[in-house]
Amino acid sequence: MQIIAHRGASGFYPENTLLAIEQALLAKADGIEIDVFCVDNTLVVIHDEDVSRTTNGTGLLQNLTLQQVQQLDAGSGQQVPTLWQVLQLVNNQTLLNIELKGADTAEPLLELLKKAETELGTEPEKLLLSSFNHHLLKQIKKQRPDIKLGALTASLPLDYAAFASELGAWSVHCDKGFIDQQMIQDAHQRGLQVWVYTVNDAATAQKLQQLGVDGIFCNYPLQARSW
Ligand code: G3P
Ligand code: MG
Repeated sequence: MQIIAHRGASGFYPENTLLAIEQALLAKADGIEIDVFCVDNTLVVIHDEDVSRTTNGTGLLQNLTLQQVQQLDAGSGQQVPTLWQVLQLVNNQTLLNIELKGADTAEPLLELLKKAETELGTEPEKLLLSSFNHHLLKQIKKQRPDIKLGALTASLPLDYAAFASELGAWSVHCDKGFIDQQMIQDAHQRGLQVWVYTVNDAATAQKLQQLGVDGIFCNYPLQARSW
Protein backbone atom coordinates (compact mmCIF):
# COMPACT_ATOMS: atom_id res chain seq x y z
CA MET A 1 0.00 0.00 0.00
CA GLN A 2 1.34 3.40 -1.01
CA ILE A 3 1.80 6.12 1.61
CA ILE A 4 1.00 9.62 0.45
CA ALA A 5 2.07 12.43 2.75
CA HIS A 6 -1.07 14.47 3.30
CA ARG A 7 -0.36 18.21 2.98
CA GLY A 8 3.28 17.14 3.39
CA ALA A 9 4.32 15.54 6.67
CA SER A 10 1.64 17.68 8.26
CA GLY A 11 1.32 15.73 11.52
CA PHE A 12 4.51 17.24 12.92
CA TYR A 13 5.19 20.17 10.58
CA PRO A 14 2.98 23.06 9.39
CA GLU A 15 0.74 21.74 6.61
CA ASN A 16 1.37 22.61 2.97
CA THR A 17 4.72 24.30 3.69
CA LEU A 18 8.13 23.61 2.16
CA LEU A 19 9.24 22.28 5.56
CA ALA A 20 6.43 19.70 5.65
CA ILE A 21 7.17 18.71 2.07
CA GLU A 22 10.90 18.40 2.75
CA GLN A 23 10.11 16.11 5.68
CA ALA A 24 7.84 13.99 3.51
CA LEU A 25 10.70 13.62 1.03
CA LEU A 26 13.02 12.59 3.86
CA ALA A 27 10.41 10.06 4.99
CA LYS A 28 10.54 8.59 1.48
CA ALA A 29 6.78 8.95 1.06
CA ASP A 30 5.47 7.30 -2.11
CA GLY A 31 3.69 10.55 -2.90
CA ILE A 32 3.01 14.00 -1.50
CA GLU A 33 -0.39 15.64 -1.57
CA ILE A 34 -0.80 19.42 -1.52
CA ASP A 35 -3.75 21.79 -2.01
CA VAL A 36 -3.71 24.78 -4.33
CA PHE A 37 -5.65 28.02 -4.73
CA CYS A 38 -5.06 30.80 -7.21
CA VAL A 39 -4.11 34.28 -5.95
CA ASP A 40 -3.27 37.07 -8.43
CA ASN A 41 -2.97 34.44 -11.15
CA THR A 42 -0.34 32.57 -9.12
CA LEU A 43 -0.95 29.14 -7.61
CA VAL A 44 -0.29 29.04 -3.90
CA VAL A 45 -0.21 26.00 -1.67
CA ILE A 46 -2.82 26.28 1.07
CA HIS A 47 -5.86 24.24 2.05
CA ASP A 48 -8.52 26.76 3.08
CA GLU A 49 -9.94 29.74 1.22
CA ASP A 50 -9.68 31.58 4.55
CA VAL A 51 -6.12 32.00 5.82
CA SER A 52 -7.08 32.08 9.52
CA ARG A 53 -6.65 28.41 10.44
CA THR A 54 -3.18 27.85 9.00
CA THR A 55 -1.50 31.28 9.18
CA ASN A 56 -1.18 34.28 11.48
CA GLY A 57 -3.46 36.26 9.16
CA THR A 58 -7.21 36.56 8.78
CA GLY A 59 -9.61 36.83 5.90
CA LEU A 60 -10.30 35.28 2.55
CA LEU A 61 -7.57 34.61 -0.01
CA GLN A 62 -9.68 36.37 -2.62
CA ASN A 63 -9.34 39.62 -0.65
CA LEU A 64 -5.55 39.36 -0.37
CA THR A 65 -2.76 40.09 -2.83
CA LEU A 66 -0.04 37.54 -3.49
CA GLN A 67 2.40 39.77 -1.64
CA GLN A 68 0.13 39.85 1.41
CA VAL A 69 -0.25 36.06 1.35
CA GLN A 70 3.52 35.64 1.12
CA GLN A 71 4.01 37.86 4.15
CA LEU A 72 1.96 35.52 6.35
CA ASP A 73 3.50 33.03 8.74
CA ALA A 74 2.16 29.57 7.94
CA GLY A 75 3.76 28.12 11.10
CA SER A 76 7.37 27.79 12.34
CA GLY A 77 8.25 30.87 10.31
CA GLN A 78 7.28 29.14 7.07
CA GLN A 79 5.72 31.02 4.14
CA VAL A 80 2.71 29.95 2.16
CA PRO A 81 4.66 28.50 -0.79
CA THR A 82 3.88 28.92 -4.43
CA LEU A 83 3.32 25.77 -6.47
CA TRP A 84 6.42 26.70 -8.46
CA GLN A 85 8.53 26.51 -5.30
CA VAL A 86 7.08 23.11 -4.50
CA LEU A 87 7.77 21.78 -7.99
CA GLN A 88 11.35 23.01 -7.63
CA LEU A 89 11.75 21.32 -4.25
CA VAL A 90 10.12 17.99 -5.14
CA ASN A 91 12.02 17.89 -8.42
CA ASN A 92 10.53 14.54 -9.57
CA GLN A 93 11.79 12.77 -6.43
CA THR A 94 8.33 11.39 -5.71
CA LEU A 95 4.79 11.60 -7.07
CA LEU A 96 3.26 15.02 -6.48
CA ASN A 97 -0.52 15.02 -6.05
CA ILE A 98 -1.79 18.54 -6.66
CA GLU A 99 -5.34 18.95 -5.37
CA LEU A 100 -7.14 21.81 -7.10
CA LYS A 101 -9.29 23.73 -4.63
CA GLY A 102 -10.39 26.94 -6.32
CA ALA A 103 -12.63 26.82 -9.42
CA ASP A 104 -10.17 29.13 -11.23
CA THR A 105 -7.13 26.88 -10.83
CA ALA A 106 -7.23 24.68 -13.95
CA GLU A 107 -5.96 27.12 -16.59
CA PRO A 108 -3.16 28.66 -14.50
CA LEU A 109 -2.12 25.16 -13.44
CA LEU A 110 -1.85 23.90 -17.01
CA GLU A 111 0.19 26.97 -17.94
CA LEU A 112 2.48 26.58 -14.96
CA LEU A 113 3.05 22.89 -15.65
CA LYS A 114 4.08 23.63 -19.22
CA LYS A 115 6.61 26.14 -17.94
CA ALA A 116 7.81 23.70 -15.25
CA GLU A 117 8.30 20.95 -17.80
CA THR A 118 10.49 23.26 -19.89
CA GLU A 119 12.34 25.16 -17.19
CA LEU A 120 12.50 22.72 -14.28
CA GLY A 121 12.36 19.43 -16.12
CA THR A 122 9.17 18.46 -14.28
CA GLU A 123 8.13 15.02 -15.47
CA PRO A 124 4.37 14.79 -16.17
CA GLU A 125 4.33 11.14 -15.12
CA LYS A 126 5.37 12.25 -11.62
CA LEU A 127 2.19 14.32 -11.29
CA LEU A 128 -1.33 13.43 -10.22
CA LEU A 129 -3.98 16.14 -10.41
CA SER A 130 -7.06 15.73 -8.23
CA SER A 131 -10.15 17.65 -7.24
CA PHE A 132 -13.61 17.38 -5.75
CA ASN A 133 -14.57 19.62 -8.67
CA HIS A 134 -14.92 17.05 -11.45
CA HIS A 135 -15.62 19.74 -14.04
CA LEU A 136 -12.08 20.98 -13.54
CA LEU A 137 -10.74 17.47 -14.05
CA LYS A 138 -12.74 17.11 -17.24
CA GLN A 139 -11.32 20.40 -18.50
CA ILE A 140 -7.77 19.25 -17.71
CA LYS A 141 -8.29 15.84 -19.32
CA LYS A 142 -9.16 17.50 -22.63
CA GLN A 143 -5.94 19.49 -22.69
CA ARG A 144 -3.55 17.08 -20.99
CA PRO A 145 -4.75 13.49 -21.43
CA ASP A 146 -1.22 12.37 -20.53
CA ILE A 147 -1.37 13.59 -16.91
CA LYS A 148 -2.88 11.27 -14.29
CA LEU A 149 -6.12 12.41 -12.67
CA GLY A 150 -7.46 11.53 -9.23
CA ALA A 151 -11.22 11.83 -8.81
CA LEU A 152 -12.04 12.83 -5.25
CA THR A 153 -15.26 11.91 -3.54
CA ALA A 154 -16.52 12.54 -0.03
CA SER A 155 -19.46 10.18 -0.54
CA LEU A 156 -20.34 6.66 -1.63
CA PRO A 157 -21.87 7.29 -5.07
CA LEU A 158 -24.83 5.15 -6.19
CA ASP A 159 -22.85 3.91 -9.15
CA TYR A 160 -19.63 3.60 -7.15
CA ALA A 161 -16.54 4.49 -9.22
CA ALA A 162 -18.36 5.07 -12.53
CA PHE A 163 -17.82 8.84 -12.31
CA ALA A 164 -14.05 8.33 -12.11
CA SER A 165 -14.05 6.02 -15.16
CA GLU A 166 -16.09 8.57 -17.09
CA LEU A 167 -13.46 11.18 -16.33
CA GLY A 168 -10.72 8.87 -17.54
CA ALA A 169 -9.15 9.11 -14.10
CA TRP A 170 -6.20 7.02 -12.92
CA SER A 171 -7.41 6.84 -9.33
CA VAL A 172 -10.38 7.42 -7.10
CA HIS A 173 -9.71 9.17 -3.79
CA CYS A 174 -12.24 8.23 -1.15
CA ASP A 175 -13.15 9.39 2.32
CA LYS A 176 -12.36 6.67 4.86
CA GLY A 177 -15.82 7.13 6.39
CA PHE A 178 -17.57 6.00 3.20
CA ILE A 179 -15.27 3.48 1.58
CA ASP A 180 -16.55 -0.08 1.37
CA GLN A 181 -15.74 -3.39 -0.33
CA GLN A 182 -18.08 -2.73 -3.27
CA MET A 183 -16.46 0.62 -4.00
CA ILE A 184 -13.01 -0.95 -3.96
CA GLN A 185 -14.10 -3.85 -6.16
CA ASP A 186 -15.90 -1.62 -8.62
CA ALA A 187 -12.90 0.74 -8.89
CA HIS A 188 -10.50 -2.16 -9.39
CA GLN A 189 -12.70 -3.72 -12.07
CA ARG A 190 -12.49 -0.39 -13.87
CA GLY A 191 -8.70 -0.39 -13.57
CA LEU A 192 -8.64 2.46 -11.06
CA GLN A 193 -6.33 2.82 -8.09
CA VAL A 194 -8.11 3.33 -4.77
CA TRP A 195 -6.59 5.85 -2.38
CA VAL A 196 -8.19 6.75 0.95
CA TYR A 197 -7.94 9.93 3.06
CA THR A 198 -7.04 10.72 5.82
CA VAL A 199 -5.63 7.73 7.66
CA ASN A 200 -3.59 8.53 10.75
CA ASP A 201 -3.67 5.31 12.78
CA ALA A 202 -2.28 1.81 12.36
CA ALA A 203 -5.57 -0.04 12.90
CA THR A 204 -7.37 1.81 10.10
CA ALA A 205 -4.37 1.49 7.78
CA GLN A 206 -4.22 -2.27 8.35
CA LYS A 207 -7.97 -2.70 7.84
CA LEU A 208 -7.82 -0.78 4.56
CA GLN A 209 -4.84 -2.78 3.39
CA GLN A 210 -6.79 -5.99 4.01
CA LEU A 211 -9.68 -4.58 2.00
CA GLY A 212 -7.30 -4.07 -0.92
CA VAL A 213 -6.89 -0.29 -0.82
CA ASP A 214 -3.87 0.82 -2.88
CA GLY A 215 -2.85 3.96 -1.04
CA ILE A 216 -3.53 6.10 2.01
CA PHE A 217 -3.17 9.81 2.58
CA CYS A 218 -1.45 10.17 5.93
CA ASN A 219 -0.17 13.09 8.00
CA TYR A 220 2.59 10.86 9.43
CA PRO A 221 4.38 9.33 6.41
CA LEU A 222 7.45 8.26 8.39
CA GLN A 223 5.48 6.54 11.15
CA ALA A 224 3.09 4.93 8.66
CA ARG A 225 5.98 2.80 7.34
CA SER A 226 5.81 0.64 10.46
CA TRP A 227 2.01 0.34 10.65
O1 G3P B 1 -6.67 14.75 -1.41
C1 G3P B 1 -7.06 14.05 -0.26
C2 G3P B 1 -7.61 14.99 0.78
O2 G3P B 1 -6.68 16.00 1.00
C3 G3P B 1 -8.93 15.58 0.40
O3 G3P B 1 -9.50 16.36 1.38
O4 G3P B 1 -9.97 18.46 2.58
O5 G3P B 1 -7.89 17.22 3.10
O6 G3P B 1 -8.12 18.44 0.95
P1 G3P B 1 -8.84 17.68 2.01
MG1 MG C 1 -6.23 17.89 0.07
